[in-house]
Amino acid sequence: MLPTHTDIGGVRIEPNLVLSPMEGVTDLSFRRLIRQIGGVGLTVTEFVPGAALSRGDKRFMDMVKLDVDERPVAIQLYGRDPGQLAEGARMVQDLGADICDINMGCPSKKVCNNSGGSSLMREPEHAREIVRQVVAAVQIPVTVKMRSGFDVDSRNAPELARVCEGEGAAAITVHWRTRADRYGGLRAVDKIAETVQAVAVPVFANGDVVDVASAESMLRDTGAAGLYVGRGAIADPWVFARIAAWQRGEPEPVVDQAAKHRVILAYVASLRALPSVRPQKEDRFVLGRLKQLAKTFCRRQLEGGRGLERQILHSQTLPEALTAIEAWFQPS
Ligand SMILES: Cc1cc2nc3c(=O)[nH]c(=O)nc-3n(C[C@H](O)[C@H](O)[C@H](O)COP(=O)(O)O)c2cc1C
Repeated sequence: MLPTHTDIGGVRIEPNLVLSPMEGVTDLSFRRLIRQIGGVGLTVTEFVPGAALSRGDKRFMDMVKLDVDERPVAIQLYGRDPGQLAEGARMVQDLGADICDINMGCPSKKVCNNSGGSSLMREPEHAREIVRQVVAAVQIPVTVKMRSGFDVDSRNAPELARVCEGEGAAAITVHWRTRADRYGGLRAVDKIAETVQAVAVPVFANGDVVDVASAESMLRDTGAAGLYVGRGAIADPWVFARIAAWQRGEPEPVVDQAAKHRVILAYVASLRALPSVRPQKEDRFVLGRLKQLAKTFCRRQLEGGRGLERQILHSQTLPEALTAIEAWFQPS
């Protein structure tokens, strides 16, 4: 029997399907969209620097605003300084998050050059100190998200997960790629399976889960307690509902054109209402996020949708993109 729910330090995750953190994507609007569709057991914010949060920096405070009914929810921190991350974690707790997640997987130069993100995988003793101080700072569960390793010669997720568990981490997420793989590489989930064996806390498997078939094989191949789904949710916001239906032994939901239209419009409306968006920048910001969604959503969800994708991507203004959307969904 494959698992359908799990528990992170007393927080029930049911279904065991998590919206993976994505910078520039998993803001309040996107998380709302996914929650409204259903099937997700935990949502995670975009990552924010622990140092900025510990200072109460307004831009980042806005980025981690949560809906009161968004439960359970995790806020993800990145950084290198254990003290600042611990301060940031206190803020995460005060903001009402159920879980504080620490990023040890980000491959970006910006984050790695400051020796945070996946570069922490090369410094297990420093990673240990971070988890120790963050766990000591808060009462909510602390989790760690990592890759299988930094590169092919150092795929040390099982060892690092043991270190994190030893310092009190309540769950571990492993993306099967190494930092060197970035977003390529050949599927190799062996280190996720080894991590499951190495620790007693729940391990979540991550990487290329996009539908029921890939969810089933990921759970089977790794023995993981649950799944993190990132890009699959941009291409198909119903992916959680589909997997959750399969878990319940029910048929996958059928999504018609009208529902797809409604979802795009609801997303735009929700983006416009974000507290972090300054009125004079609203249209540009919303257009940017809409383009991010359009890139895979149109292709995957709309038959012949590449035309609309191109129109949205080439739009100079939000009204231009909205006109293209309305024309597309116009009954012919
Ligand atoms: C646009 C984008 C932004 C991301 N930002 C974050 C982030 O803020 N924190 C994090 O831990 N991972 C981040 N990731 C990685 C994803 O959470 C996930 O681990 C990765 O995409 C693999 O899962 P997937 O194949 O389901 O997308 C990001 C990925 C993408 C594509």
